[in-house]
Amino acid sequence: MLFKFNPHCNCVGESKFKMTTVENADDVKEDELFCKKSRLDVNNEVTTTETEELFNGVEISKLTKSQMKKYKRMLQWQSVKKLKRAKEKLRTKNRKYEAKMQNIDIGPSRKQLKSAKMANSPCKIGVVIDLSFDELMINKDMGKVIKQILRVYTENRRATAPMQLHLTSFVGRCKEEMSKHNGYENWDMHFHATSYLDVFPKEKLVYLSSESDNVINELEQDKIYIIGGLVDHNSHKGVCHQKAITEGIAHGQLPIGEYFHFVSRKVFTINQVFEILLRVSEGKTFKEAFEMVLPKRINMQPALDNSNIE
Ligand SMILES: C[S@@+](CC[C@H](N)C(=O)[O-])C[C@H]1O[C@@H](n2cnc3c(N)ncnc32)[C@H](O)[C@@H]1O
Repeated sequence: MLFKFNPHCNCVGESKFKMTTVENADDVKEDELFCKKSRLDVNNEVTTTETEELFNGVEISKLTKSQMKKYKRMLQWQSVKKLKRAKEKLRTKNRKYEAKMQNIDIGPSRKQLKSAKMANSPCKIGVVIDLSFDELMINKDMGKVIKQILRVYTENRRATAPMQLHLTSFVGRCKEEMSKHNGYENWDMHFHATSYLDVFPKEKLVYLSSESDNVINELEQDKIYIIGGLVDHNSHKGVCHQKAITEGIAHGQLPIGEYFHFVSRKVFTINQVFEILLRVSEGKTFKEAFEMVLPKRINMQPALDNSNIE
């Protein structure tokens, strides 16, 4: 059984969508998504209402020919947009329904997401993404950093026990780039204009770096793990490691070498590092987390004997 779109619309702004059910998705036809255009009569003339509306600051009755053309196009687009949204909603609803019927996990519901906020999370492990590398990146790479942060955010929002997520040195170009994403200020994430050194006690901080000689074998609840917000295609090797040494804070690498004796790549992306931490915070071993998160194209040969590690 599927949901069928059934529009009853007289004009834009008065559209009413009624859901009925049909047996087959094919029954939902394109032509059923037809809707009369708002305030355009059968002759494609604009009918004005009693209280005169404005278009780009001009009363409708006083529009020039070309302004009227634009206005009509805008009205048409408005009605099409509504139909498109309704169609997309319907598709999502049908997909969810089918997934439910086949017992496929479609992730947390809206209601679950609402309650799974960082403040309510039993996980108190902190993760900072350090955004102090503006001057080391061209715009394209800065865009990639923000994209990876979006993935981090999505993963954390979907988690049943989200980690305590912070962005530090959130100023300048990275903030500008982020502002392209409407409403980001309302995300369940902490934004700090200052460095992590001004936000947390030094002894709680651990800078993650593939260059560190220290290997992290478990995550500690009261620690704050810092991920360098840097996409550099390895052109600034060791920058984060050096930063941690200069600032006198602890540092450590993820224990990939403990589980895999050969790994074709040891420097991971921001979102991969975050996801590995998240999976481990959820109770997975590091080995399981690496296997779950890292793409298959990263060649990883298991170590011969790691029984003393697990
Ligand atoms: C793309 S890497 C940036 C590499 C950069 N050249 C550097 O100096 O760290 C992004 C961040 O992910 C973290 N990271 C990546 N691979 C890691 C690993 N194997 N162990 C620990 N942290 C890692 C580090 O915090 C790093 O700054």
